Amino acid sequence: MVNKQLKVVIVGTGYVGLTTGVCLAYLGHRVTCVDVNEKIISELNKGKPTIHEPGMEELMMLARNNLVFSFSLKEAMPEADIVVIAVGTPSKNNGDADISAVERVAEEIGAILNSDSPLVIVNKSTVPIGSARRVETVVKAKLERRNVECNFFVASNPEFLREGAAIRDTLYPDRIVVGFESAQAFNILGQLYNPILKQTFEPPAFIPRPAEYKCPSFIATNPTSAELIKYAANSFLAMKISFINEFAGLAERVGADIKEVAQGIGLDKRIGLDYLQAGLGWGGSCFGKDTRAISYTASQYGYKMELVQSSIDVNYRQRMVAVEKLQRALKVLRGSIIGILGLSFKPNTDDLRDAPSVDIINKLIELGARVRVFDPVAMPNFQRQYKNMAVEYCEDVITLSIDCDALVLVTEWHDFAKIDWGLISRNMRQKIIVDGRNFVKNEELEKIGFNYLGMGRF
Ligand SMILES: NC(=O)c1ccc[n+]([C@@H]2O[C@H](COP(=O)([O-])OP(=O)(O)OC[C@H]3O[C@@H](n4cnc5c(N)ncnc54)[C@H](O)[C@@H]3O)[C@@H](O)[C@H]2O)c1
Repeated sequence: MVNKQLKVVIVGTGYVGLTTGVCLAYLGHRVTCVDVNEKIISELNKGKPTIHEPGMEELMMLARNNLVFSFSLKEAMPEADIVVIAVGTPSKNNGDADISAVERVAEEIGAILNSDSPLVIVNKSTVPIGSARRVETVVKAKLERRNVECNFFVASNPEFLREGAAIRDTLYPDRIVVGFESAQAFNILGQLYNPILKQTFEPPAFIPRPAEYKCPSFIATNPTSAELIKYAANSFLAMKISFINEFAGLAERVGADIKEVAQGIGLDKRIGLDYLQAGLGWGGSCFGKDTRAISYTASQYGYKMELVQSSIDVNYRQRMVAVEKLQRALKVLRGSIIGILGLSFKPNTDDLRDAPSVDIINKLIELGARVRVFDPVAMPNFQRQYKNMAVEYCEDVITLSIDCDALVLVTEWHDFAKIDWGLISRNMRQKIIVDGRNFVKNEELEKIGFNYLGMGRF
């Protein structure tokens, strides 16, 4: 298939929408990214990414001739071949995914749609089973009320990118999944992704094609299977992390080293090394939300997803392991000064959604500790989102360490591998570190007198 330029509208310009829009524009499609948040659009119009994502600013620059940012779906939609819905689907209190933002976009599309040429509406947001059909119903109802007949198809196209490696994952995915009921939707999505499926594009110099990368599989299925694939993928990855964390708890007790255990099992190709790092568990906008949502879906069918539920329980228990380790080492936390290294839920992002740092800090404050924090990227977001949290913000790790009784490494930022631990140790009242990600070299720290407390290590 020859690459054909399509007119694409992306609705929702967050982590998924911005990355998808910028990548598709780089690949040669004409893209308009729409968001209701005016601040986001005005920053993007200045060429400034509104999320922290490696390579984003550079790729926006390269793609600028094909890329427009707008507040108005009405202005963006005429002549569009595809509208991609990439708005948030947060958890409701009962665990179900809240798809009201998706429904609002569907209503808007139904209110605007006017063309005879077929439009493909793509659900890229992570949505519960039946959402493709739901979007179709909402658009149809709106068209009926307007007494307008239009040709449109809804397809499901779940997203698998990881924050921090979002552009890389978009340009060089393992697979692309599309769920559809009409061959027309499948054909247009095939055209949309052709440059990626065939890898016909020149890779950006700053995000090169990985060595030995093979073209991705194009998985064509029905919408329900596509929707379930996304939940199954995230539940499996979440379970893998909780699995190794559960073994980490046992490893500590029996005198094994979980890093070596993970290596020993992960080299088995049937298991694989990815997502086998023991630590403080997952965070972010997806694993917690999606595992809860699929458990909720199952419950609607009177079915219990025991493995998924246990993975959730193990994950949130894991966050408190850092606090328990501090209590064992310091005995009394009240009045202690604890320094937190890293706030974002993982490195290379400023995203704080469901970040372990928040639960750990809250618990430490509740137990009477004084908490100091440093994060190379996520501090402004933290200050905005947790205005009332009584923490002291530090400009670097050295300032943070002054008079600390203990440090907790929560996020494995690359910069933390370059810390001068000798200098840090001289600043501290007591040389205790909880390495919540098994990230720093324990031998080096122990040599200079640190009480090094890793996860799942003795
Ligand atoms: N973040 C990830 O790593 C990731 C990975 C895979 C899938 N997903 C899924 O993708 C979806 C989006 O996630 P995200 O992290 O990009 O969310 P996000 O919160 O970063 O971005 C969503 C954006 O949608 C905008 N928006 C909301 N309603 C709108 C409307 N009616 N019209 C226009 N814009 C609107 C918001 O202003 C926001 O900027 C979610 O369903 C999520 O589960 C996320």
